[in-house]
Amino acid sequence: MNVGIDLIHFSTSDYFLGLDTFAQEKNIDVDKFYIGIGQEKMSIAPPDEDVVSLAAKAAAPILAQIDKSDISAILFATESGVDQSKSAGVFLHGLLGLSPRCRVVEFKHACYSGAAALQMATALVHMNPKEKVLVIAADIAKYDVDTSGEATQGCGAVAMLVTESPRILAIEPGSGYHTEDVMDFWRPNHRKTALVDGKYSTKVYLNSLKHSWAHFTEQTGRSFSDINHFCYHIPFTKMAEKAHHTLTRVAKVKLTHEQFLAQTQPGQVYNRIIGNSYSASLFVGFCSLLDNLKEDLQGRRVSFFSYGSGCVAEFFTGLMQPGYEKVLMTHSHQTQIAQRQPLSYAEYLAFYHQTDEAVENIEFSQANKGPYRLAGIQDHKRYYQAV
Ligand code: HMG
Repeated sequence: MNVGIDLIHFSTSDYFLGLDTFAQEKNIDVDKFYIGIGQEKMSIAPPDEDVVSLAAKAAAPILAQIDKSDISAILFATESGVDQSKSAGVFLHGLLGLSPRCRVVEFKHACYSGAAALQMATALVHMNPKEKVLVIAADIAKYDVDTSGEATQGCGAVAMLVTESPRILAIEPGSGYHTEDVMDFWRPNHRKTALVDGKYSTKVYLNSLKHSWAHFTEQTGRSFSDINHFCYHIPFTKMAEKAHHTLTRVAKVKLTHEQFLAQTQPGQVYNRIIGNSYSASLFVGFCSLLDNLKEDLQGRRVSFFSYGSGCVAEFFTGLMQPGYEKVLMTHSHQTQIAQRQPLSYAEYLAFYHQTDEAVENIEFSQANKGPYRLAGIQDHKRYYQAV
């Protein structure tokens, strides 16, 4: 039985900060961003956008195509949780009007949790093929102002419907994984922004890739040449390029420059202009590959490398299904990106500082254009609105 991604759709916010604007403000050569880290823009969430509203925006077009009462579980992956106790997925469940006959849980391990949720959803469906599981990976990447991480912010959510006989990608059994207790990036409970040892984090990412790859090859007997397309966790696109260089070196493969670009570029188009979306970023990259590679991918094998700081990593693969192109939501992805509004640095800072969720009562003025928004907090309770 094949199990995997039946439908996939992502969302991002209605605003972006251009790294040209950012570079000018900080008096830095813009090529440090365009070339050095391979980023052009960062999606910025206004105060009335959080992971629940982003997730609802990502999931709604999927639910519109199925009987939504069939959703048997929501696995919500995020490190930007809105409550220490109640899962973001239950807010989403209410907002989207799903059946009470559904289990909901939140997954966390930095950027890795999206891949974890996808693997667990796949296992659930293998156990009972009647299950239809909604996997959400949603995050708002936020670092302190004037730190090296500030240029690598962004936000987004990916919704994936995991079923038997999937129409897009069948997840293959066997994967390679690696866990190590390290402090490369973390966010203690009292902080809204992440702390990071930036250079160290890039080294741990690459080291985890080597370990995950070694385990993957042992587990599956597959080699580099068995894989047609490579998706990586993308905190910034240059990181994915470093990852692919590392993999070719470890696998002792020589690629021409053109082959290297063909294997990496289509999967980076969206990430370059959205920025880091933590748990969602690997799957935004997969959407980018699907929407931007103008080739028939049917029968091709795609690999996924998920890295979550701290750290947990996994390397796994899936096979593209016949007719997958008929169910892609390319138009929606491209329209959302095209309709974003640019922010000046001062406007970005106003959004950045305005979100004050520490207060028990707040009504947010409307900046999020919908379809769902965080309307306010009353007596410490969040309430959402369909716009
Ligand atoms: P930095 O100090 O801002 O930048 O840190 P830099 O001085 O290292 O420059 C970056 C690159 O730009 C360098 O290239 C420079 O040479 C080049 P590299 O040596 O890396 O190949 N450069 C230029 N190129 C062209 N023209 C120029 C120019 N100037 C410089 N004029 C850093 C960069 C990524 C460390 C920083 O942005 C950061 O700390 N980001 C946050 C951490 C991060 O994203 N880490 C990635 C790995 S960990 C991960 O992916 C997990 C994560 O997503 C979280 C999670 O799991 O939840 C972060």
